[in-house]
Amino acid sequence: MRRRISCSSSSALFSFFFLLSWPACSVSSGEDTLSPDRPLLDDGATALVSSGGRFRLGFFSPNGSTNRYVGIWYNKISIQTVVWVANRRQPIATLSGNLSLTNNGTLIITGEDNSTAIWSSGSPASGLRNPVARILDDGNFVVVEEAGSNDDDPNSFAWQSFDFPSDTFLPGMVLRQKQLRTGAILNINFTAWMSSTDPAPGQYTLGLNVQGDPQVFIWRGTQPFWRGGPWNGRWFSGIPEVAENASWLINVNVEQNINQISYSAINQSSVIVREIMDSSGHIQILVWIEAEQRWSVCWDIPKDPCDLMSSCGPNTYCSSNTSPQCACLPAFHPRNQRNWDLWDWSDGCTRTTPLDCQNNTDGFFTLSGTKLPDTSRSTVNANLSLVECRALCFSNCSCRAYAPSNISGIESGCLIWTDDLTDIKVYRSGLGQDLYVRLAAADLASAISEALRSHSNRNILMIVLLPLAILFLASVAYSIWRWKKRSSHIDYEAEEKDMELPLFDLNTIKDATDGFSTYNKLGQGGFGPVYKGKLGEDQQIAVKRLSKTSSQGVDEFKNEITLIAKLQHRNLVKLLGCCIQGGERLLIYEYMFNGSLDTFLFGEAQTVLLDWRARYNIILGVARGLLYLHHDSRLRIVHRDLKASNILLDKDMNPKISDFGMARIFGGEESESITKRVVGTYGYMSPEYIINGIFSIKSDVFSFGVIVLEIISGKRNRDADQSMEQLNLLGNLWIKWKEGKYIDLVDKNFSHLLSENQILRCIKVGLLCVQKKPEDRPTMSSVLAMLVSVDNISLLPEPKQPGFFIARPSSVSSDVNIRELESVNQVSITEIAGR
Ligand SMILES: *[C@@H]1O[C@H](CO)[C@@H](O)[C@H](O)[C@H]1NC(C)=O
Ligand SMILES: *[C@@H]1O[C@H](CO)[C@@H](O)[C@H](O)[C@H]1NC(C)=O
Ligand SMILES: *[C@@H]1O[C@H](CO)[C@@H](O)[C@H](O)[C@H]1NC(C)=O
Ligand SMILES: *[C@@H]1O[C@H](CO)[C@@H](O)[C@H](O)[C@H]1NC(C)=O
Ligand SMILES: *[C@@H]1O[C@H](CO)[C@@H](O)[C@H](O)[C@H]1NC(C)=O
Ligand SMILES: *[C@@H]1O[C@H](CO)[C@@H](O)[C@H](O)[C@H]1NC(C)=O
Ligand SMILES: *[C@@H]1O[C@H](CO)[C@@H](O)[C@H](O)[C@H]1NC(C)=O
Ligand SMILES: *[C@@H]1O[C@H](CO)[C@@H](O)[C@H](O)[C@H]1NC(C)=O
Ligand SMILES: *[C@@H]1O[C@H](CO)[C@@H](O)[C@H](O)[C@H]1NC(C)=O
Ligand SMILES: *[C@@H]1O[C@H](CO)[C@@H](O)[C@H](O)[C@H]1NC(C)=O
Ligand SMILES: *[C@@H]1O[C@H](CO)[C@@H](O)[C@H](O)[C@H]1NC(C)=O
Repeated sequence: MRRRISCSSSSALFSFFFLLSWPACSVSSGEDTLSPDRPLLDDGATALVSSGGRFRLGFFSPNGSTNRYVGIWYNKISIQTVVWVANRRQPIATLSGNLSLTNNGTLIITGEDNSTAIWSSGSPASGLRNPVARILDDGNFVVVEEAGSNDDDPNSFAWQSFDFPSDTFLPGMVLRQKQLRTGAILNINFTAWMSSTDPAPGQYTLGLNVQGDPQVFIWRGTQPFWRGGPWNGRWFSGIPEVAENASWLINVNVEQNINQISYSAINQSSVIVREIMDSSGHIQILVWIEAEQRWSVCWDIPKDPCDLMSSCGPNTYCSSNTSPQCACLPAFHPRNQRNWDLWDWSDGCTRTTPLDCQNNTDGFFTLSGTKLPDTSRSTVNANLSLVECRALCFSNCSCRAYAPSNISGIESGCLIWTDDLTDIKVYRSGLGQDLYVRLAAADLASAISEALRSHSNRNILMIVLLPLAILFLASVAYSIWRWKKRSSHIDYEAEEKDMELPLFDLNTIKDATDGFSTYNKLGQGGFGPVYKGKLGEDQQIAVKRLSKTSSQGVDEFKNEITLIAKLQHRNLVKLLGCCIQGGERLLIYEYMFNGSLDTFLFGEAQTVLLDWRARYNIILGVARGLLYLHHDSRLRIVHRDLKASNILLDKDMNPKISDFGMARIFGGEESESITKRVVGTYGYMSPEYIINGIFSIKSDVFSFGVIVLEIISGKRNRDADQSMEQLNLLGNLWIKWKEGKYIDLVDKNFSHLLSENQILRCIKVGLLCVQKKPEDRPTMSSVLAMLVSVDNISLLPEPKQPGFFIARPSSVSSDVNIRELESVNQVSITEIAGR
């Protein structure tokens, strides 16, 4: 298979020539062979070159380092790209390295101390009489018997670097192979570099997990990190896109009998291609683009949170299109509802009704389009048909699910899970395969209706398989039909109903607020005063009276409030109704007992009441409310004026986002918009919004970040710190963060001894949200995931410099003109017009 343009006679001539002209005993550049009497000495330049000229072997220093390593890199590529390193852990500090071959065929590297080997290839199994080491044109460095060696036959190699790879998977390598020469089965791991400048083994390892049905894995340390899923005859269950798109590149060759599984190799064609396990935990396939002199990444995994094994707990499935990403399998419910609500899915889900194996009433529910669950502990039998597989699962009471092991041609083979089902991912329709999950009869109907109702997972299809109870099947079908009829009817009614926002009579509201008496005035918002009122016996309300000068037309006003009335989330203030009568426009909200967050944070008297638990609860609540606006509601809404005074607190100090007066609704694909009229509150607005008028969900994320940092510091962002006059809160925090002294800026009014870690996490997330560039800021779903994650904080990305502004408006930007329109009670609405 391997083609080598052989020129052993000319290379012999070549060495002969050098032997004559230079009696010194070391190899010279351009040769491809090392022999015991001719070591390779590090002089900064000399290297072996494979006979076809594709690869070069010698001493090198990684970019940014002066350490010397023996390695193999591409000979003809302008960017030095190292594919193999020998002494990964034992660099040589100076140009003193010596790579030599012993008489018995062991490769040895020595450094400054030339008496001890710092690296050795280990002793070859069988004694060689005249060993040589040769770099081959596929990048393999081999030790062979000089006479009669056949470079095409791996079985003649006494040793090869392909068996001990670094981080690079080259065409021709295999992950698991039975070695003909020794009969041993070899499993190979690829370990990432520590960093781009340090080839020492890093955190991530790629290899084959051969337990159960073999799967490709990435481990982080010893923890499973990503799972490629079992080979299903057409693709690895976890990477269906490879079957679809990259088959020209990767030629997976699976010979599956008990002893030999050689998942192999990238298609060897004329393209220069390599696959690496990179130091940040990604597998990448890169192709060299000669015309542009660069490597292009044509495949990269993991690419979304659902790819990570830790994402969701047992008996869940993960879907990257939905929010939240984890859901219980149909007819399962969260094991720990509280953690589940906090987006901690690690406990997973549990069966609603226990299986009833003895009476043979269980059935199977088909989950379509999946990455099959982890097969490390499942059993596989390639000889069975799918029907036999189902019967096998049905007859074994510990069987929880089954699936065909081979979907090439007709589905065949049998995979059986007798444990919790973990790491299931559901793909967009058209990808993935069917998984048959065993459920109790009582749960089947509800599982089906649940899946039918789920709008976000249309590709979950149901088939009911009831081997013994066909009558029961008919009755289930009938009840589903009934249910569907009924539920669609209910849906329709609900839709009709929530279109209508209650219209209140002006006199009712006047009565409720004592004729808008100043005594009942709660405060002044951007669009007018807010009054407290009482409807009937005990319903307290807040009434916002829009100023008559507001330019919005009645239709737009109605339209907007109808939309906002549809938003229902426990972290959004509920709009109860409105009133448009006699030139008045009133919005009636539920009354929030504890008023707005800013009075707690910045008001002198009440600061003490807000301990860290309460603050953390507020941060999470605001994040959830905002996530709902951005992703979960049927509309995508940008609030545009998120600030501490718009976060209201109910009697239990639960936060609710209020004031949607400036909110904008985005259509399906639209993700950002430009406005000439920049409205918002100074200190909370993102740089791109202030300067260019561009707003998107990322400008809300910025405001959210400011709120988080205000909650932690107890300081307003627009206040300049005395000691650093020109910097605002963000600027100060950033500097302290860089110096590692962020704890200085934590509000002294709450004790943080026990929660330092959580506070630090919130600061880091806050800083990530206020980064200057919108594309660097996380979305609210990642924000929430980062806030509740139990991972080490150092695994969060490092924030870049925030888009902070200098406190004096005059210095913001010369072509931006800020005009204070209104400033009441420290709430400022600012209009900025670009010229
Ligand atoms: C080495 O680093 C320099 C500057 O950072 C960069 O231009 C160059 O491409 C790098 N070379 C390699 C081989 O990565
Ligand atoms: C290189 O190593 C070999 C084997 O250890 C030794 O025989 C040779 O003298 C060394 N050469 C130099 C220049 O150190
Ligand atoms: C091979 O040679 C090395 C060094 O010369 C020696 O340490 C090792 O024991 C030898 N191995 C065998 C199998 O002879
Ligand atoms: C090591 O280096 C010293 C001095 O350069 C030399 O005399 C000695 O022969 C070398 N030994 C080996 C094993 O190469
Ligand atoms: C590959 O790495 C994994 C994780 O570190 C380890 O469990 C496994 O034993 C390794 N396999 C081989 C063949 O070294
Ligand atoms: C396959 O390639 C097409 C065209 O480049 C692309 O639209 C599609 O998303 C790719 N499919 C996958 C699974 O990556
Ligand atoms: C390898 O790639 C070449 C060219 O891209 C293609 O013609 C050939 O069919 C591929 N081979 C396999 C086995 O996929
Ligand atoms: C299953 O059989 C047991 C007796 O073996 C009976 O008590 C139980 O009610 C049956 N369950 C169902 C769901 O029929
Ligand atoms: C599958 O069938 C083959 C050939 O009939 C047989 O050798 C093998 O043992 C069977 N495997 C299992 C797991 O039954
Ligand atoms: C059920 O399947 C498991 C796993 O394949 C096996 O260990 C167990 O013996 C089976 N039980 C029965 C009763 O066949
Ligand atoms: C999968 O099934 C196809 C067609 O039935 C067959 O050709 C192929 O060998 C099977 N693959 C494995 C790994 O059993």
